[in-house]
Amino acid sequence: EEIKIFCPATIANISCGFDVLGVALDSVGDEMVIRKTSKKGIFITKLEGQDLPMETDRNVAGVAGLAFLAESDYEGGFEIEIYKKIKAGSGIGSSAASSTGAVWAMNELLGRPFSTSKLVEFSMEGERLASGVAHADNVAPALFGGFTLVRSYAPLDIVPINCPAELFATVIHPQIEIKTSDSRKILKTNITLKEGIKQWGNLGGLIAGLFTEDYDLIGRSLVDHIVEPIRSILIPGFNDVKTSSLAAGALGCGISGSGPSIFAFSRGEATAEKVAQAMKDVYQKIGIDHDVHISKIN
Ligand code: HSE
Repeated sequence: EEIKIFCPATIANISCGFDVLGVALDSVGDEMVIRKTSKKGIFITKLEGQDLPMETDRNVAGVAGLAFLAESDYEGGFEIEIYKKIKAGSGIGSSAASSTGAVWAMNELLGRPFSTSKLVEFSMEGERLASGVAHADNVAPALFGGFTLVRSYAPLDIVPINCPAELFATVIHPQIEIKTSDSRKILKTNITLKEGIKQWGNLGGLIAGLFTEDYDLIGRSLVDHIVEPIRSILIPGFNDVKTSSLAAGALGCGISGSGPSIFAFSRGEATAEKVAQAMKDVYQKIGIDHDVHISKIN
């Protein structure tokens, strides 16, 4: 008995929602095949597309799978084949795609013993392995689809958020690698009340804009005063990409997850395409290889 699945890439943080907001991308992702075995345990039998560890306890899908098995009364095990299309360290949830894919498929094969929220918890163990912190802002949208808010980590409370009908994401990946663990180390651990007020004003505005499909409000709220100024230093061309995207009509633009990918939201596909061209022009000019994707958000 086996199952073949698509595991979506995700944009985490979305400017003002560091560690709490994320969205799944329909047109970018990995493929996985998961099958039941009589032998107990998790076995990564194939891993193509990226040079990543295949030992169960060093692989994010393996670790998430073990967390699943530890709480399951299933006596057998699972074999996992991973066909990576998302590059590790690109900032669009490569580790989340693998860990969520594994536990989602395992749950299906066993007749859905666990809720989607419980699958988020298992997948967070993969994130802990990948980045040192069990953040849920990539794994939650990968499992629920669309936008999700992590309202609380303890207890875990995931809130699905509406996807406006005409919203498109453009994501450019300049081909440099940034490890999430490294880009977390450089962050400040304290913020001022004044910074907090700005950030939660924008996060509330963004959530309201997504529910009411108010594109101007979404655009005004896609601002990050806390993390972006620090992390953008690691991304060559970031400020130019942002300025050009906004000039091309994007509603907003920011770092995707921990970078180096940069995302922009647009109303309508035609604008998303113009934004893609504007982003590409910047990297062509400074001579950095890149790839661009456009996804409808739904
Ligand atoms: N919220 C996480 C971070 C996402 O920004 O470190 C990492 O993909």
